[in-house]
This record gives sequence, structure tokens and C-alpha cells, in this order.
Amino acid sequence: MKNIVILISGRGSNMEAIVRACAEQAWPARIAAVLSNRPDAPGLKFAAAQGIPVGVVDHRHYPDRASFDKALAKAIDAHVPDLVVLAGFMRILTPEFVEHYAGRMMNIHPSLLPSFPGLHTHQQALEAGVKVHGASVHFVTAALDHGPIVLQAAIEVGPEDTPETLAGRLLPCEHQIYPRAVRWFVEGRLRVKDSVVHVDPPEPQLLIALAASSADAASAPDSSSDSVTPVDTTGARQ
Ligand code: GRF
Repeated sequence: MKNIVILISGRGSNMEAIVRACAEQAWPARIAAVLSNRPDAPGLKFAAAQGIPVGVVDHRHYPDRASFDKALAKAIDAHVPDLVVLAGFMRILTPEFVEHYAGRMMNIHPSLLPSFPGLHTHQQALEAGVKVHGASVHFVTAALDHGPIVLQAAIEVGPEDTPETLAGRLLPCEHQIYPRAVRWFVEGRLRVKDSVVHVDPPEPQLLIALAASSADAASAPDSSSDSVTPVDTTGARQ
């Protein structure tokens, strides 16, 4: 049984998708804890209601990044994690912290990495005029929003798209790919060779969502709408 510790800073919808998938699909894993750097992160309520241990390490109480990361690592390591999952965790991590969890820490970033690291990824995509946008689950390395890519989801960018419509169409895709990537990890199916992630036995590492009209997405901006359900063309197990 593998221990997963999930870090959030806010809403926590990706965390929720992972918690649900772990229970529904009976992974050989348990969510050992959900930790946040913000005491008011809405996702903490969901986790606590599921009976998952929750904790807060408030970055505002630490004089610098290094001391915060040290306290955070202590809180994480108390749960003996096999995998640390960053799910909307909005802190830049020190190289020492990243090194401590090398090969056992994942992140989801709302772009097709290596394009558009950092913030405002949907705006960046629109300004670049790309016709395909997406999200990436990757192992965390010292470079921000970088590291071996486990799984990506791609959506079409239309002329009417806005940052909001892209975010609205992408989020349901994130909720598919992140649990799948975590499941592969806890099943011991991921190998990294020369910075490229392989799944053993192989499964497609790309989810392509059909284009949804911007109008649909705009009318369902909370992204939980069924009207923007992505189509999984990978045939991968859920
Ligand atoms: C997601 O879009 C994720 O890709 C990004 O931050 C957002 C977090 O959303 N890193 P949530 O807190 O999981 O709902």
C-alpha cells in the first residue's frame, strides 16, 4: 500500500479527482494526508470530510523560502510518502526540497509543456496563437514547470476562445489525466529513461479532447458541467 501526500493551495478539484479515483478504483494506495500552505484553502474541507488527515503549513509564518520548505517537508515526511502530488500548489520550491522528493513528486500544469511555464498559461497560449493547448502531468525537477512528462491532454483552440473558456474546457481533462498518472505511479508502472517517461505495459500518454464550442464552455464556466466532457481517445483504463 503506497502513501500519497497531496499539496494544495486552493480549490483542490484535482485533489478531489485523485481522492475519488483512489477509492473508486481501489488503488494499491491511500491518501495519507492533504496539506496546504493556506489555512482557508477550500479543498481542505472536502479532504477532511473524507476522513483524510489534513494539515496547514502557512508560508506567511516563515521568514524565507528555505525555512518554509523545511517545515513543509517535515509535515509531509510525517506521513511517510511514496509520492507527493502537487495539485494547484502555488509555491515555488527550493532545489533542496525538490531534490528530497526526486522521482517521487508530480505536478500538473495547465499547458502543453515545455510551452508556457509559469502563470497565465491560457493567456500565453492565446497570445502565441497556438491551435492546440492542454495540460501536462510531470515529475518535478528544480526548473519551474519542467521535468519528465508523464501524461498530457490536448484541446483545440478556437478563434472565440478566451482564457476562461480554455480553463473551463481543460479542467475536466485535468481531472482525467492526473488520477491516471498517479495510478500508474502507485502501480509501479512508470520508468524514466533519459528524461522520458515510459509506461509499462505501454498505454497512450496523451488524451485528446474533442473541440467544444466556446459558447458551450462559456455557459458552463465552473467546468463541472457535463457539456464539456472530454472524449478519451486513448483507450486507457480509468
Ligand atoms: C489547475 O488548473 C492546475 O493545472 C493548476 O492549478 C489549477 C488548480 O486547480 N496547477 P484545483 O485547485 O486543482 O481545482
